[in-house]
Amino acid sequence: MTIHDRPAADPILSDDDVAAFERDGFLTIDALADPDEVDVLRSGYDELFARTEGFADSDRLDLAPGGERPVLPQIVNPERYLPRLVEGSAYANARRVALQLLGDDMVAMGNHAINKPAGDGAPTPWHQDEAYWDPNFDHTAISIWVALQDVDESNGCMVFVPGSHRSAVRPHRLIHPDAHGLRLADDRDPPAAVACPLTAGGATVHAGRTLHYAGPNRTDHPRRAVIFAFARPAVRRSPAHDYTWQRPEWFAPTAQTIDHRRELG
Ligand code: NI
Repeated sequence: MTIHDRPAADPILSDDDVAAFERDGFLTIDALADPDEVDVLRSGYDELFARTEGFADSDRLDLAPGGERPVLPQIVNPERYLPRLVEGSAYANARRVALQLLGDDMVAMGNHAINKPAGDGAPTPWHQDEAYWDPNFDHTAISIWVALQDVDESNGCMVFVPGSHRSAVRPHRLIHPDAHGLRLADDRDPPAAVACPLTAGGATVHAGRTLHYAGPNRTDHPRRAVIFAFARPAVRRSPAHDYTWQRPEWFAPTAQTIDHRRELG
């Protein structure tokens, strides 16, 4: 759908969109950000990823280290360094989508940016975001993945397994012993996956348990994505999930909500 010209009070998603999200666990939005805002965000994004200093601890990391240069660089909390990311219509529209899908008590979670370098940007392996999250809580959350250039399967668009959000969190493992990234323990590609190409400014929305993947970037241009995350308040559960792949240092003992910082997109 195109949403630029709608009054701010109007819902962005139709009833059919909401039903599709509940059925499939993901959704595509044709235009979350208008072209002018995409241009502004893209230039700021490139400046941000060109910087090597000035980031807080663990705000800049490589999800799949091991080579000479980062193949899956991520910036956590990018709005700390690029406030305009959350000051324009893209974020306002993302927030409206979150209100529709999660309800009035939804809260904004951490944002992040994943840049796939031209030519050798690594695939983001199959995973469920909830595999990263605090196993002491039940989570209801969404991630809104905004493309800052056109994306398709040649440069790493998002790929989802419809209905997978209704299953449990499957076993995961670290992508690399030194990595922050997780992947499904089962190496086989899931069946019936759906690729979601987008034009610049378009977005996908997925739930915390929706299985997803993004391929390598084989083009001559970087693949830039910004992910805005929202959640309902997390609910403490007992017993906790047994997520053996998680590292103890991922969660402060007093964590009350989702730590979405290490999510992949
Ligand atoms: Ni992810």
